[in-house]
Amino acid sequence: MRASGIVIAIDGPAGVGKSTVGKMVAKRIGYSFISTGKMYRALAWKALANGLGLEDDEKLVALARSLRWEFPKGAGPEADVSLDGKVLALELSEESVSRASSSIAKLPGVRLFMKDMQRQAGLSGGVVMEGRDIGTNVFPDAELKIYLDASPEARAKRRVGQLKEQGMPADHAQILDFIVKRDAQDSGRKNNPLRKADDAHYLDSTSVPRDQVVEAIVELFKAAVK
Ligand code: C5P
Repeated sequence: MRASGIVIAIDGPAGVGKSTVGKMVAKRIGYSFISTGKMYRALAWKALANGLGLEDDEKLVALARSLRWEFPKGAGPEADVSLDGKVLALELSEESVSRASSSIAKLPGVRLFMKDMQRQAGLSGGVVMEGRDIGTNVFPDAELKIYLDASPEARAKRRVGQLKEQGMPADHAQILDFIVKRDAQDSGRKNNPLRKADDAHYLDSTSVPRDQVVEAIVELFKAAVK
């Protein structure tokens, strides 16, 4: 066991509920929660704001290095990252940021920067970390690995619900199309593609209520720390 507990890695495709479930699990067991998706989104958002090319690995890494990264707790349900003291929340869920984050996530330099930062953040344990490559690349030594899955249809439906709640426009067919394309990009890339780690527990949440998914992970956690 690490100083503050174990590392729980939750990986899976876009819109599967990794953040919601991960936060609920973290709260239940008194762990902190880290969304690595938000890290890629925050860098993408900043790159777009600065008019930086999304293919320029070197410039993106230099930008990432120049920023002060913090992961505030309790700053709001969607606020997981702050850059130079600015808490980023709803701006990170814009579709342009989703696409840009998936695009910069292909670049090896960007990925290495993120991996270092993510390892630093989780090394002492007591953390639930969600992403695409946590169990395979960032923490291959995580004591508990979950691969959370759901059909693209179910994920699109959930996303439409979320956007409507936030008062944002939502078109099911378009969102389904975005999800399928982002899946293909995240699974098809050369560097640390989305895939289930061999030793990860596979949970399909297509027709399972969220509370039950949380319950299942809490049970796996209890068994892992026994
Ligand atoms: O999970 P979320 O949709 O917020 O992630 C945004 C993008 O960041 C993903 O489409 C993926 O390309 C990238 N990402 C990644 N590795 C992670 C987390 C996210 O490549 N560990």
